[in-house]
Amino acid sequence: MELFLDTANLEQLRQGVKWGISGVTTNPTLVAAEGTRDYKSLVKTICGIVPGKVSAEVTVEGVAAMVAQARDIAAWHENVVVKVPCTPDGFEVTSQLSRDNIRVNMTLCFSAAQALLAALCGAYFISPFIGRLDDIGQNGLDLLAEIINVYNEGSVKTRVLAASIRHPIHVIQAASLGAHFATIPYKVLEQLTRHPLTDAGNARFLADWRKTSGS
Ligand code: E4P
Repeated sequence: MELFLDTANLEQLRQGVKWGISGVTTNPTLVAAEGTRDYKSLVKTICGIVPGKVSAEVTVEGVAAMVAQARDIAAWHENVVVKVPCTPDGFEVTSQLSRDNIRVNMTLCFSAAQALLAALCGAYFISPFIGRLDDIGQNGLDLLAEIINVYNEGSVKTRVLAASIRHPIHVIQAASLGAHFATIPYKVLEQLTRHPLTDAGNARFLADWRKTSGS
């Protein structure tokens, strides 16, 4: 399973790449948090930092407007994948774009039925939102397992991108279930780099070495 970073923060992305991150997902909320209105320039800068796919989301409503904006976003950089919501209009938009080989990440997925339809419409990624289901008392990982099962049964090409990840256990369970990608917040990436027993063990090794070497 590859890891993407769920952020539009450039410093976090630069460090994330050093820790093995291969792609990025952004959304309007994450971009707004960076205080920029120039989404295009930000996404192009991000594409220069990370080696893999960078998702950028449509911000308009209505099929015609979404398709027009998606075509524009897709032309920003060869690694850009256009994020389109799992709505009635979103499925129609994805069908149109995929016919022209424009890669779409269908986002805000909360059911296996939406995931199946996304695949039939030619989505490149499907993004089930694990944490937001947990937040309302459902089990987001159950949905992830269900989607992977449905996709495997139908030899579907759409890649499963586990999203709305809240903690390292989500990451490991997504990988165990067979998700192709997971997009994680920077805080979770930092958590993946650390374990208290590693810190304690490393401190002990270094202290013992200093005693032996006299340095
Ligand atoms: C994914 O593409 C989304 O940007 C993201 O995972 C949403 O996560 P949240 O539920 O923490 O906002």
